[in-house]
Amino acid sequence: MKILVTGGLGFIGSNFVRYVADKADIVVVDALKYGSNENNLKDSDYGFVKGDICDYELMAEVVKGKDAIVNFAAETHVDRSISNPYAFIESNVIGTYTLLEAIRKANPEAKFVHVSTDEVYGDIEKGSFKEGDMLKPSSPYSASKASADLLVQAYVRTYDLNAVITRCTNNYGAYQYPEKLIPKAIIRAELNMKIPVYGTGKNVRDWIYVEDHCEAINTILEKGERGEIYNISSGEERSNLEVVNEIMDKMGKEDLIEFVEDRPGHDIRYSLDSSKIMELGWKPGHKFEEGLKETIEWYVKNEEWWKPLTDEKILHPTPWKLEW
Ligand SMILES: NC(=O)c1ccc[n+]([C@@H]2O[C@H](COP(=O)([O-])OP(=O)(O)OC[C@H]3O[C@@H](n4cnc5c(N)ncnc54)[C@H](O)[C@@H]3O)[C@@H](O)[C@H]2O)c1
Repeated sequence: MKILVTGGLGFIGSNFVRYVADKADIVVVDALKYGSNENNLKDSDYGFVKGDICDYELMAEVVKGKDAIVNFAAETHVDRSISNPYAFIESNVIGTYTLLEAIRKANPEAKFVHVSTDEVYGDIEKGSFKEGDMLKPSSPYSASKASADLLVQAYVRTYDLNAVITRCTNNYGAYQYPEKLIPKAIIRAELNMKIPVYGTGKNVRDWIYVEDHCEAINTILEKGERGEIYNISSGEERSNLEVVNEIMDKMGKEDLIEFVEDRPGHDIRYSLDSSKIMELGWKPGHKFEEGLKETIEWYVKNEEWWKPLTDEKILHPTPWKLEW
């Protein structure tokens, strides 16, 4: 099977390439934006094209001859989307549109797996979202992802593209850029720095180990049905405060928590019902406890990977206030 992986040098994309590398022929296309890192795939076997998914000519070329295209390419940090929304509209909306056009014209038989997020539903105080629930995004990031999802659905209906959408909860694991909560907390704890927690720390997320997400995407690649949306979650809900406390506890650190001004529009709780993908035979393989332990061990062992990525801006306590 020949697969084009967009954004394959980022966190989840690189974990996915590693996951499928021995089962498929992989070509990665990545614009090498700040979240990408060639060291993420140092020992893997894959073809590489440097390029932007907003570049129609290039996309029409690279989708040719592929059985499937998996789209991870996106701007992904909510904080940055608050101070610089345009980059999100460009990569996440125009980029997805360009990719859809390229597939429709140059390789309409290919399967397109569009990787989206639980954030498109907005937050929920009780219960869990199902795939048919209304989209109510809160941030420019989630609004750009919701817009892309709508385009994908329109291309299925109007042009009969063989596309599916996945909506996953918060990922954690090796190779995650240090601006995100879990790597940032681990790195700051390792450096004995204060760990910033937004507001009261009560915001709840469902945390999924990145390898479980990759396995879910592979299941959808093999068995997902044209036009369907699949939620992906672990059921392991934790507040930000619980996550940071668990990290400090596992790393044997004293209390390093520093409560900082909350970011605007901060969603209270995300929760998904993922019974639909479970009907395809997938289930999460890692408990949060064990996944977090493995993740901490990886960051502690791989200082040479994160050290060059940890300037003051990246580890800043309130990055949504910065100009990016
Ligand atoms: N990280 C999470 O918790 C999470 C959860 C659910 C869904 N997602 C989705 O999964 C996907 C991957 O997320 P991630 O955490 O790995 O992100 P990431 O920021 O680590 O990686 C994104 C990659 O996309 C590339 N990229 C960005 N814009 C591009 C463009 N215009 N053209 C080509 N390449 C481009 C970057 O260079 C980078 O390598 C995203 O679509 C994100 O919305 C992430």
